[in-house]
Amino acid sequence: MKLIITPDAASATHVAAHLLADTIRQRPDAVLGLATGRTMEGVYAALADIHRAEALSFSGIASFNLDEYVGLPPSDPRSYRHYMQTHLFDHVDADERHIHVPNGIAADLKTECAAYEAAIRTHGGISLQLLGIGDTGHIGFNEPPSPFDTRTRVVELDAATRQQNAEMFGGDPDAVPSEAITMGVGTILDAKRLLMVATGPAKADIVAAALEGPITPDVSASAIRLHGDVVVVLDEASAGALSPETRALANAG
Ligand code: GLP
Repeated sequence: MKLIITPDAASATHVAAHLLADTIRQRPDAVLGLATGRTMEGVYAALADIHRAEALSFSGIASFNLDEYVGLPPSDPRSYRHYMQTHLFDHVDADERHIHVPNGIAADLKTECAAYEAAIRTHGGISLQLLGIGDTGHIGFNEPPSPFDTRTRVVELDAATRQQNAEMFGGDPDAVPSEAITMGVGTILDAKRLLMVATGPAKADIVAAALEGPITPDVSASAIRLHGDVVVVLDEASAGALSPETRALANAG
């Protein structure tokens, strides 16, 4: 695992955006696994800046998002499909036909999940998977416990997650959909490279649990330690509960 600790959130998201940009430069037809959440807003803003300033083209890439709320149409401003449009795709030259976000209003959700897995395979797998971490330790919406061989499926969201994501729903956790479609932990671990980003003091304890605690389905983010090519980008605040031994990894570059 490569660990990068930056002084503040802006520099963490900047570093992550440059890692994504490098992937696209090396492979203009890269298959990007994308994530949502407040942390990623900074990553996508920085990526859009790189697109403009350095003429980085997204026209050849394909993308697969980690997750989507069940019951929200893509046009709903609270959907992750809409989030991706406003935070990234409106600002870059990605080809709409190659953008994939699970369809939370599919008539048959099980078929939708299987088709999503198949589409990832048809594209040759994910080159780089961007990941945030939720308060429950989830990656995507893999709430505890999520076995490490899980695939794209419908999950029930934890009360803590609905609380964490309530802001977009008028501050009311009960207004947050109770279910979501998420790539499984196994789907995520199949990506060739993982890039986890966390910022802010509220993430410090769960980041330490994921990087230093037991590797367990109870903290699905701990699964990333089983992957051979992982980059974790943290700001000082989210790295605040790490042991000196783990921090030494960052110093080792
Ligand atoms: C949601 C997403 C996760 C993301 C998490 C973190 O729950 N499903 O994939 O990691 O948000 O969100 P934030 O960056 O807002 O803390």
